[in-house]
Amino acid sequence: MRGIILAGGSATRLRPCTKIASKQLLPVYNRPMIYYPLNTLIKAGIKEILIIVAPERAGDYLNLLGSGKEFGVKFTYEIQDQPKGLAEAFMIGENFIDQESVCMILGDNIFEDDFSKEIINFKSGGKVFAKAVPDPERFGVVEVDDNFKAISIVEKPKEPKSNLALTGLYIFDSRVVGFAKEAKPSARGELEITELQNRYLKLNELEVVKVEGEWIDAGTFDSLLKAQNFVKEKMQDKMVI
Ligand code: G1P
Repeated sequence: MRGIILAGGSATRLRPCTKIASKQLLPVYNRPMIYYPLNTLIKAGIKEILIIVAPERAGDYLNLLGSGKEFGVKFTYEIQDQPKGLAEAFMIGENFIDQESVCMILGDNIFEDDFSKEIINFKSGGKVFAKAVPDPERFGVVEVDDNFKAISIVEKPKEPKSNLALTGLYIFDSRVVGFAKEAKPSARGELEITELQNRYLKLNELEVVKVEGEWIDAGTFDSLLKAQNFVKEKMQDKMVI
């Protein structure tokens, strides 16, 4: 299993803080934000991790994270020239993924849960992680049946069919690269991750897993503040880095 952390984007919602610094390097209590998704991958035993960054911030990531030796893993870096959507990460990572399965996590997503079992036991298809939230319209939303099987997936729906947000953690087999290449830009001009999830859903190969613990997408000032407090109180003993 290969790992990808997507830390691109321009983070306009956090201006002016992100005018001179990358969102995913802003402090969340006592560590840079990216340490939390990195911790999720490293805890699950993933050793080869691709970090995708925006061109103007690439040097900062290299300075902070280096080769990966310090963490007992190997980092590869790639540039996302423009924030063209999450699905593009799988094209940027094509050579890195090769014929392996891949676990992608967004650089601003902080999870309390340990996903080691889900990552280690993955065989094929797609696996996504859903969490009930009060504001599902901000996210990809999955509608499920009584057995927690996906019925529909919609990106930022105006009228969500459920309160289950799709979090920024995804496991796919290597077919995801081909699916990403076939994806078409959405109305907001991005290659949406939800389109890839829908490909696996149509093949009846998408598994939805419930996130039990806290999940925070730290991309707004309010969620960043929430993340700071949460990390201080609840995450310190869960960090291996
Ligand atoms: C992205 C995805 C969305 C997902 C969210 C999780 O949204 O497009 O499906 O629910 O991440 O953080 P964005 O943060 O790019 O608006």
